Amino acid sequence: MNDPRVSSSSAAVAATGPEKNNTATASAEANYQIIAEVGDFDSIQAKRPDFDHSNRPIEVTKSPNPNWEYGQGVPDSGASATKKHREIDPYAPDRPMINNYHLLISGIAPRPIGFLSTVSGDGKTKNLAPFSYFQVIDHDPPMFIVGFSSRPGRVKDTFRNLKETGEVVINTVSESMIEAVNATSIDAPYGVSEWEISGLHEAPTTTVKPGRVQESVFSIEGLVVDIKEFEDHVKPGMSIASLVLIRATRFWVQEDAVDAEFRHIDLNKLRPLGQLGGVSYGRVTSIFELPRRRWKDEYSQSELLTKLEGSKTETK
Ligand SMILES: Cc1cc2nc3c(=O)[nH]c(=O)nc-3n(C[C@H](O)[C@H](O)[C@H](O)COP(=O)(O)O)c2cc1C
Repeated sequence: MNDPRVSSSSAAVAATGPEKNNTATASAEANYQIIAEVGDFDSIQAKRPDFDHSNRPIEVTKSPNPNWEYGQGVPDSGASATKKHREIDPYAPDRPMINNYHLLISGIAPRPIGFLSTVSGDGKTKNLAPFSYFQVIDHDPPMFIVGFSSRPGRVKDTFRNLKETGEVVINTVSESMIEAVNATSIDAPYGVSEWEISGLHEAPTTTVKPGRVQESVFSIEGLVVDIKEFEDHVKPGMSIASLVLIRATRFWVQEDAVDAEFRHIDLNKLRPLGQLGGVSYGRVTSIFELPRRRWKDEYSQSELLTKLEGSKTETK
């Protein structure tokens, strides 16, 4: 397919014939460790305190160091500035890919979860799946990015649908939804709808074919504006990793969660989750505020900024 949205050609697994590809997929399958064996998670979970369903208002505290001054760095008597670091080559021949996976998902955290609703090119199959290689990257225009990891065999159904149709709904994930959302991440065969697996409810949309998730506080209809497939990194038996850029066409926001101007979503209603390392998720139970400052208001009040203002080199 010669799709202008795809910024590299879509050669996936090397043209080696179907049998060789099957063997490569089987061996990739055997080495694929991202979805670990669950083991006896139920007995681990049984020993933990219950989830606090009380929905007590999210606490607002002072910032960590309210008396911080310009130039002060981290107010910990220099402790963090003297820590040692280890250099890692992510591509070192003896470094397993799974180590990069665990390092990245534990180190780049918390990550918001984009819950994507798509439909197949023939319009017959609906799909729902969560992605935390996800972020809003601009508001003007409203733009989002989603990363699709490679896996043994076929590309993720969501990616296939995005490529075929260019249409999507991005839905937010609140605490109460997480088990249903996680269920949609199961590697269901192509053609099976995760709406049924999850029991979540589909609501109508205006500018795209896929439905939005009724239970989500905030949903965004969007169109694909660019796709980047990482061709230079394709491994035998594995699908191609890729990145999709999405531009919003509509917003839907839960009425009781937004203010009168439709400009602020109440955190106590959104109750967002952040994906962390391993299979952990973080709740937002406590926040603080930290206003951004403007140079013109600040520099005359700080000795350091005044000095810097005086020493600036004219460049333009
Ligand atoms: C919370 C969560 C976040 C996830 N984030 C990603 C991600 O960013 N990229 C990715 O490729 N897979 C991610 N996955 C795995 C996909 O959801 C999973 O592969 C799913 O089966 C894809 O569905 P699809 O084939 O129907 O598109 C995530 C799973 C969970 C539970």
